[in-house]
Amino acid sequence: MQAGHPLALDFCGLSLSNPVLLAAGTAGYGCELNDAFDLARVGAVVSKSITRAPREGNPPTRILDSPVGMLNAIGLANVGVEAFLSQKLAARATIGCRLFGSIAGHSTQEYVSLAQAFDEDARLDAVELNVSCPNTADGLQFGEHPSVLRSLVGEVRAVVARKPLIVKLSPNAPDIVKMAEAAIASGADALTVANTWTAMAIDVHTRAFRLSNKRGGYSGPGIHPIIVRMVHDIFVQVARDAKRPIIGLGGVTRWEDAAEFILAGATLCGMGTALFIDPRSPLAVVEGLRRWTMDQGCKNITELIGQAHA
Ligand SMILES: Cc1cc2nc3c(=O)[nH]c(=O)nc-3n(C[C@H](O)[C@H](O)[C@H](O)COP(=O)(O)O)c2cc1C
Repeated sequence: MQAGHPLALDFCGLSLSNPVLLAAGTAGYGCELNDAFDLARVGAVVSKSITRAPREGNPPTRILDSPVGMLNAIGLANVGVEAFLSQKLAARATIGCRLFGSIAGHSTQEYVSLAQAFDEDARLDAVELNVSCPNTADGLQFGEHPSVLRSLVGEVRAVVARKPLIVKLSPNAPDIVKMAEAAIASGADALTVANTWTAMAIDVHTRAFRLSNKRGGYSGPGIHPIIVRMVHDIFVQVARDAKRPIIGLGGVTRWEDAAEFILAGATLCGMGTALFIDPRSPLAVVEGLRRWTMDQGCKNITELIGQAHA
């Protein structure tokens, strides 16, 4: 898809063929789903979150089905930054969409060193900060306190000079609009709204917690209407005036869900849990958005951003 196509758009100075993005942690290191379909048919893929050292993650059980979504407690399993850059990105040239690198850490220094490494690697187009992690220094989640987030984003911004810096917000913060304000004030170029909801499941027969980690993150269709509300509130109260694009992420399985995010104020729409149900589902979402844009009488989908009205 090229310029002039109804779905082609600009995101923080990057040209994307369309607004559909595969979310962090649900599409491997970035290239794996190329076996399911040609990744040139989506706008971007976000790598799973990478940490400084390799991590095994939590023991099983770490994924569960739920009637309207899923719970996961993967625990940031990944090969670590060195192997990610030296081995996993080797296939980068084979994918025809944008590739964003996600980073996670348990200290500000860990985030800063990873962000610097990602900023210097030309194979990555943007850096996404997964801030849903506790800081080992004080135990506070980076993504749940505005002052903690402001300080983290400021430090990371100082070393990300070449690429867009995206901050992925946690829906578990008491006031996500305040978190969006803090991220933008300290240098975020864009916001992803949002990560998973902290959740729990219990086996009523054995009385055992069903996830080995007890707690996990809830995602999928059940969270979608709540994230639509969050995208809308952040767009109207902060992001529109600050001219910072939003990636709407939560429960998109059909093109209508993605279109709802666009109308609420999102520029891009992520898909995560849907890939576990049908890895090719993004193709139908892209096609649905193309038809919808034309049915709405628009030349480009960006004309529909934030156009929900009373
Ligand atoms: C199995 C699984 C692993 C995930 N891993 C990550 C991760 O590594 N980093 C991250 O920022 N988000 C991670 N997420 C969260 C997703 O990127 C996304 O924010 C969330 O699932 C909501 O979108 P969805 O409802 O479309 O799945 C993960 C989600 C799932 C289901």
